[in-house]
Amino acid sequence: MNFKITLLPGDGIGPEVVGEAVRVLEKVASKYNHDFNFQERLMGGCSIDKYGKSITDETLADCQASDSVLLGAVGGPKWDDPNAKDRPERGLLALRKGLGVFANLRPVKVHPALIDASPLKPEKLKGVDIIVVRELTGGLYFGQPKTREMVAGKERAVDTLEYYDYEIKRVVELAFQLAKGRRKKVTSVDKANILESSRMWRQIASNIGKANPDIELEHTLVDTAAMRLITAPAWMDVVVTENMFGDILTDEASVLAGSMGMLPSASLGQATVGLYEPIHGSAPDIAGKGIANPIGTILSSAMMLRHSFKLEVEATAIEAAVDAAITDGVRSADLGGALTTRQMADEIINRL
Ligand code: IPM
Ligand code: MG
Repeated sequence: MNFKITLLPGDGIGPEVVGEAVRVLEKVASKYNHDFNFQERLMGGCSIDKYGKSITDETLADCQASDSVLLGAVGGPKWDDPNAKDRPERGLLALRKGLGVFANLRPVKVHPALIDASPLKPEKLKGVDIIVVRELTGGLYFGQPKTREMVAGKERAVDTLEYYDYEIKRVVELAFQLAKGRRKKVTSVDKANILESSRMWRQIASNIGKANPDIELEHTLVDTAAMRLITAPAWMDVVVTENMFGDILTDEASVLAGSMGMLPSASLGQATVGLYEPIHGSAPDIAGKGIANPIGTILSSAMMLRHSFKLEVEATAIEAAVDAAITDGVRSADLGGALTTRQMADEIINRL
């Protein structure tokens, strides 16, 4: 089969890890007889440098016209000026919104051979297999007004946590769909004791729960969820939550897997074009050194094969190759080893 993939390597370690994921995809293409056509575009800080904008209309249109998008990371100290007109992260938000990818799937599994790489006690990590469904195109990230102004001589800043019912409904429904193929349990995370938007969220989730009696639905406050992720992570299965809550909880959850460098994500919407990116950032401290862990991006490319291209066998093959490499002791610096980004990918490609 023939697929058009837009690559947005971005900033920092982004180009290094995306480059290795492409090599993995090329191996899959030759082994399983597919044609992956890659087109590379700038997004993030690199796009600000070249075009004066974190994402251009042309780049967004090219992404919309492809079968899927593979992204590395955006941002870095160079573009961190709080007074800057544009920021790398804004490009990413415009891309998510422009592709309509309202659900961000972040699976967190603990490989048995990496239990020691996590700061948590081994017995807590047994059986951890979570998928966080983070709402991605609404909530605190996008709500209006979002302003900064002088009011009677004092500076005031405003962000808005806003949701329409349909935005909550579609993402919670997607979480329920996922739960049907798993342990039939959904944890809906909110702050309903304080936030109006959370009270609406909880009500909608309850209604969807009633319509799906085969799925166990549990509501948890976000502060409790943050604690339980560390004290009893095996208790969670499918977790669905607001944009910002999901951002925070998934960084926390990544600690369970031993390193943030391990975790992939898939952002999906109504349209078929999905956005795939590791959950780690641009890691400016190690950028250009060739030592970043490419596994998060490689596993994101597996999610692309599964969700956008319906190539389940190929997706599973990549995941099995990563699993086998980890079992065999293949380790980058973040996992306590010394292999380079390229060597990590080679070890995975050799097992494909
Ligand atoms: C993530 C990142 C992004 C986010 C940043 C880079 C804008 O932290 O994907 O989790 O906050 O969504
Ligand atoms: Mg984040």
